Amino acid sequence: MIKKAVLPVAGLGTRFLPATKASPKEMLPILDKPLIQYAVEEAVKVGIEEFLFITGKHKRAIEDHFDKAYELEERLKRAGKYDLLEKINCFENLNIAYIRQKEPKGLGDAILCAKPFVKDEAFVVILSDDLIDPDHSVLHEMIKIYEEKKAPVIALEAVPLEEVSRYGIVSGKKIDGYYIVDNLIEKPEPAHAPSNLAIIGRYILTPQIFKYLDSLQPGRGGEIQLTDALKVLLDETVIYGYIIEGKRYDAGEKLGYLKTIVEFALKDTEISYQFVSFLKDKFSNL
Ligand code: G1P
Repeated sequence: MIKKAVLPVAGLGTRFLPATKASPKEMLPILDKPLIQYAVEEAVKVGIEEFLFITGKHKRAIEDHFDKAYELEERLKRAGKYDLLEKINCFENLNIAYIRQKEPKGLGDAILCAKPFVKDEAFVVILSDDLIDPDHSVLHEMIKIYEEKKAPVIALEAVPLEEVSRYGIVSGKKIDGYYIVDNLIEKPEPAHAPSNLAIIGRYILTPQIFKYLDSLQPGRGGEIQLTDALKVLLDETVIYGYIIEGKRYDAGEKLGYLKTIVEFALKDTEISYQFVSFLKDKFSNL
């Protein structure tokens, strides 16, 4: 059983400056919930009990978000606002640890920081920028593959060829609904991409990855890349690729973030009706 999740949250969030100058991009709200909360809820749903956040400077708000807020809770109690109370104290039983990544040296370096936490267990990695429709449990399907194969599993999605340079790209053989990965390249130019299958921010990794991360040279962007470590890991183990079902939102850049909010607003029972009529009104003359 997989019980541990690692959530790298040390990224600088430069695509959202100045909003992310002093606040974490993971705290950007999609309606009334920050991005990071969707990631944690997704993990809780598949039975994850222990979380490790790899944090950096200016990330205090994430710790505060998952901490108890005595004063606020008292106020809400006194005001009889129990629905809100429930919304803010739903993390009380979570076991969350924090480690600081000393320098922003890349996703691979962030994952390496998780070595003492993970010990000898397989673990899940969630990148909260990739928001997956909460109605589809990608992690559940990936865990099923892991339990059968006892080997790393990465989430994949076919993307338009002109977008491959934004992702880790893999190639592989399709068997029984999943891929056996045979090559991985971090953010290739379209001409050098082995396919259009992009790595999405959900991984099931085994502790084998640490020895490769430990000795890895900086790759794309001068950073230690998880994709590069996975590529050398192929010498030791099979890596499975799972094509995600359900919609994935790229909330890590401005347009994707906006689209995510619109999609969630259209599904929100409280505001969707008014929001739709606002949109109709807005576009009626186009
Ligand atoms: C990271 C990974 C990349 C992966 C992507 C998914 O890139 O390095 O391989 O495809 O997440 O979102 P980032 O978006 O952090 O630059």
